[in-house]
Amino acid sequence: MNDYVTVTADNALGSRNGAIKLHGPDGFAGMRKAGRLAAEILDALTTQVVPGMTTQDVDDIVHRMTIEGGGVPATLGYRGYTKSCCTSINHVVCHGIPGDKTLKDGDIVNVDVTPIVDGWHGDTSRMFLVGDVPIKARKLVDVTYECLMLGLEQARPGNTIGDIANAIQAHAEKQRYSVVRDFCGHGVGRLFHDAPEVVHAGRPGTGAELKPGMFFTVEPMINIGKADCKMLDDGWTAVTRDRSLSAQFEHSIGITEDGHEVFTKSPAGLDHPPY
Ligand code: MF3
Ligand code: CO
Ligand code: CO
Repeated sequence: MNDYVTVTADNALGSRNGAIKLHGPDGFAGMRKAGRLAAEILDALTTQVVPGMTTQDVDDIVHRMTIEGGGVPATLGYRGYTKSCCTSINHVVCHGIPGDKTLKDGDIVNVDVTPIVDGWHGDTSRMFLVGDVPIKARKLVDVTYECLMLGLEQARPGNTIGDIANAIQAHAEKQRYSVVRDFCGHGVGRLFHDAPEVVHAGRPGTGAELKPGMFFTVEPMINIGKADCKMLDDGWTAVTRDRSLSAQFEHSIGITEDGHEVFTKSPAGLDHPPY
């Protein structure tokens, strides 16, 4: 059984003892603001991610916009990570580290940002198409976005994490894609990574029951090939073992009385490509 604890902004920083936090109106207000800045940063990138730029150039934009927006990048200094976002290209599943790598025509790249605003974490990622992208990769990106949205459709009180997971898994596997098991969504709020663990594959009705005030991310990683991942020697970059393409989208949400609120929705309607 899962433990739930009702919190306010003042005690939402409690360490993780496995209890699932149920936030109040002050939490929703905080997450709305952080989520909006996160989405605006990704919106700005839609016109700026182009062939020839480096992933460090992307990081520089994210860093500048985060600070200008009154935030701090959560990843900067997080467990020794030294960049302001993650940039995961092609067969990189997640946690690609920005650097001197150049984006090439035909690449697909996930940019994952998490500004902290007034102590709240807005965690979101989208895929970007670099120049002319082959249909096979574009289809993966489309289906991965659909997986996220089908998962979110299940996000309401009385349903469980397993209902979200099953919707994602069913849609991915219908296209003969696979769902990454090595990384999950997570509780989010004044902590970057909190309970519960949000799996992206599973059986309906299993896992934690969703209750109003729960804040968490849904961030499915979908591979064209097998689900298996391996970690590169940098200790962060996760890639598909078979080097098949991988895609991911992420939103931060809050469970409401009758459904959910997406904190990281694009104000400009640029939630997925083509932008
Ligand atoms: N934003 C990622 C997530 O969705 C976490 C990145 S942690 C980092 O949970 F250190 F790799 F940046
Ligand atoms: Co996340
Ligand atoms: Co993220």
